[in-house]
Formats: sequence, structure tokens, C-alpha cells
Amino acid sequence: MAATLVRLITVAAAAAGVLGHAVVKVPTPRGSGSAYTERCGETYAVYMEKDKAGPIENGVKQAGSALGCNAFLCRGYQYEDNTATDYTAGQVIDFHVDLIAGHHPGYANVSVVDLATNKVIGDPLRSWDDYPNATATTPRSDINFNVTIPSTLGEACSTGGKCAIQWYWYASGNKQTYESCVDFYVTA
Ligand SMILES: *[C@@H]1O[C@H](CO)[C@@H](O)[C@H](O)[C@H]1NC(C)=O
Ligand SMILES: *[C@@H]1O[C@H](CO)[C@@H](O)[C@H](O)[C@H]1NC(C)=O
Ligand SMILES: *[C@@H]1O[C@H](CO)[C@@H](O)[C@H](O)[C@H]1NC(C)=O
Repeated sequence: MAATLVRLITVAAAAAGVLGHAVVKVPTPRGSGSAYTERCGETYAVYMEKDKAGPIENGVKQAGSALGCNAFLCRGYQYEDNTATDYTAGQVIDFHVDLIAGHHPGYANVSVVDLATNKVIGDPLRSWDDYPNATATTPRSDINFNVTIPSTLGEACSTGGKCAIQWYWYASGNKQTYESCVDFYVTA
């Protein structure tokens, strides 16, 4: 009886806890590793790895002054733990976002980010004023979409570690940020 009750509460808490969570699944986004744990700190890294789709703010709060990285750039994940994919200008890249049910209204965008300066390069590749799309029907264009690699990046993204495509969702209602980065470089 007690065990059943505990299980029910756990299930309910898990269901409530995942509302509004999301993470990019395709292409494979930047992930964790030793550089990440070292820079961001053990508390942040361990907490964030428990739910790879969870909001950044929760990990920042957990870590407090022990946070040693910019958690709001690529969710704190480090290039050193990852590899960049070679894309060509004009290439169309399919994305899939794993959006875990729940409507937490906000806005989203997908941009090429200069990793050294944490500045967006050029215009966003995609942006949504209202995200997730409350009236979406299958196939959903807010979680399955593509981006085109700009032909204007020049030398800015010529080697791995200079640029990432960052998917960004800010759920303004509960003030939670979700990010996934795809490391890439462009060859002509
Ligand atoms: C995408 O959203 C972030 C967070 O608000 C914002 O800083 C950035 O300017 C947005 N990008 C564009 C190009 O709108
Ligand atoms: C939201 O989804 C509906 C239904 O699929 C679609 O018609 C509409 O264009 C979508 N809105 C945006 C901003 O993509
Ligand atoms: C990219 O997405 C658009 C819809 O936004 C679609 O019309 C187009 O066919 C897609 N391109 C590729 C190459 O999948």
C-alpha cells in the first residue's frame, strides 16, 4: 500500500517535473564530458545530466557560486568534449526537438552563434514568436524543421569550435531557458 502510494506520487511528480522540457535530438547536440564537469562544476553537471531536457535556471540555482561556466551558452557544454560536423554553405539540415508535453508559452529561435564572443552571427535561421505552437498539427513545424547553412559566414566558422547552431527556447511564463548546440564548421 505504502509502496504503491510512493510510486504514484513519484509518477505524478515526474509528470509535473517534465512539463515544458525540451532538447534537440537531431542533429546530435553538444553533450557532457570531463571539460564540462571541470568548468561548470560537479554540482551543476550532475544536476543537469539527471534531465538533459531540463531548464538551465534550475542547475544555476543548484550550483550557486560554484558555477564556473557560462551556463547560458550551449547549456554549459564544452566544445572540448565534442566534435564539429562539416557542413557546406546552402546545406539544409533537418532538426528534431524532443518536446516533452506541456504548454509553457514563450519564444524560440535557432541561430549561428560565435562561441568566442557568445554573439549571434547574422539573422536567426528560424524564430518563433510563440513557442511551442499551441495550435500545431502533425507534422509539427515547431519540433521538426530544417535550417539552411548561410552562405555569408565566410571565415567566421571555418574550423570546429568557432561556431555552433544554437536552438534556444525561453518559456517566459515560468522564466525557463532551454538550449541545445550543434557544433559545425563550414567548408566551401
Ligand atoms: C534568440 O533569443 C535570445 C534570447 O532572448 C536572444 O538573446 C536572441 O537575440 C534571439 N535571437 C534573435 C536573433 O532573435
Ligand atoms: C502553428 O501550427 C498551425 C497548424 O499546423 C500552422 O498553420 C501555423 O502556421 C503554425 N504557426 C507557426 C508560427 O508556425
Ligand atoms: C525544409 O523545410 C521546408 C518547410 O519549412 C520544406 O518546404 C522543405 O522541403 C524542407 N527542405 C528539405 C530539403 O527537407
